[in-house]
Amino acid sequence: MKKEENKMEELVSLCKRRGFIYQGSEIYGGLAGTWDYGHLGVALKNNIRALWWKRFVSDREDMYGVDASILMNQNVWKASGHVGGFSDPLVECKKCKKRFRADHLEDKKKCPECGGELGDEKQFNMMFKTHVGATEDETSISYLRPETAQGMFVNFKNVMDSFHPKLPFGLAQIGKAFRNEIAPRDFTFRSREFEQMEIEYFVRPTDWKEKFEHFRSQVLEFTKDVGLTQSKIHEHEIDPKDLAHYSKRTIDFEFDFPFGEKKELYGLAYRTDFDLSAHSAASGVDLAYFDEANKERFVPHCIEPSFGLDRTVLAVLSDAYSEDEMSGEGEKRVFMKFSPRVAPIKVAVFPLLKNKPNLVEKAREVFLNLKKVHGAGIMFDDNGNIGKRYRRQDEIGTPFCITVDFETVEKGTGVTVRDRDSGKQERIMIEELIPFLNGKMMI
Ligand code: GAP
Repeated sequence: MKKEENKMEELVSLCKRRGFIYQGSEIYGGLAGTWDYGHLGVALKNNIRALWWKRFVSDREDMYGVDASILMNQNVWKASGHVGGFSDPLVECKKCKKRFRADHLEDKKKCPECGGELGDEKQFNMMFKTHVGATEDETSISYLRPETAQGMFVNFKNVMDSFHPKLPFGLAQIGKAFRNEIAPRDFTFRSREFEQMEIEYFVRPTDWKEKFEHFRSQVLEFTKDVGLTQSKIHEHEIDPKDLAHYSKRTIDFEFDFPFGEKKELYGLAYRTDFDLSAHSAASGVDLAYFDEANKERFVPHCIEPSFGLDRTVLAVLSDAYSEDEMSGEGEKRVFMKFSPRVAPIKVAVFPLLKNKPNLVEKAREVFLNLKKVHGAGIMFDDNGNIGKRYRRQDEIGTPFCITVDFETVEKGTGVTVRDRDSGKQERIMIEELIPFLNGKMMI
């Protein structure tokens, strides 16, 4: 366990040093539960987001994208059950006044900080409340959404009217969600502001089991897309007594994070017709589906695969963190073993020496040609010596480093391409580079 804790500390430090993730509002001492992504973190997140959208939207014919507002009418959250029930159990220490999540404590009577007596358990609603407009009264209350899901349920009729989809079909959305977590912890794992990638997939009530199984396997396929080690993924069937108020069946997909095995990564829920029926009743707008073939009207049921984007980034980062001793290079190295599909930088191009104009010129030419095809994932680097450049690229998980050397310009024998994981180099002719990299990147 100690080793894993150290790994987590080293990962957090690498993320800050190399520009993946910073503490939110750091220069003011931070704001608990908030994190800012740097250039490489943004690229990693974008790559993961794009793979998700490709698998669940672009590659299918039955999905419709939505990008709803974060602020919604308060009646949405009354109807969905969040105003009444989106809460965690909270206890407060009578002595030091610190507050804790009751279900995270081993001893529910004694304060884990000062040993004082803990008060009675209360329910703490996790939604961030705000007011819309200049008047602060009951009518102007709004909430930062605690899940993206409701933005899709309230647009169900709009999508039906615009596209006339036939069942089964789904709505997909990627966006921010906010929860005033009592105890944000474990780096970005439990944050107060985070991004979700969610699908609300509508089916005939009789078809829910089949579609539930379909998405069960699709969730696992997505964990392969982002390169997660499959033996670290576990399914956990939620006990009926622990199900969320809207769910008849939920499977959590757990991942072996370094701070404790088997922590929730994703969820797959059968939400029945709970949400559409609740919004129909509360808004007075009919959210039923009319099946023309059978001349039948009914409220569709819903299967919801829900993915945390930041949790995916954290799983990918912790899974990729590796150390070894490179044979021949004689020192311990830290490298991020990202799948080339998600790696923020896919290829770095170097001139062997930065003070040789002919090498620099050729390296720039190779770099610009690759950049035309692969865009932001290509980087030019001529800082320090070649060994230092390899170390730096290893630490940010760049799968391939290309070096333009004297042979390249004098003999026309191509460039060297170094593989991050094995450290092996091979010579590739410049005109063969794009097909070679395309083959390796598995895009
Ligand atoms: N719409 C269903 C829903 O929101 P959830 O299990 O509460 O279900 C779905 O959240 C996913 O969102 C989780 O599996 C996790 O990946 C992510 N998530 C939830 N709370 C989070 C938090 N505080 N910080 C980071 N990610 C979180």
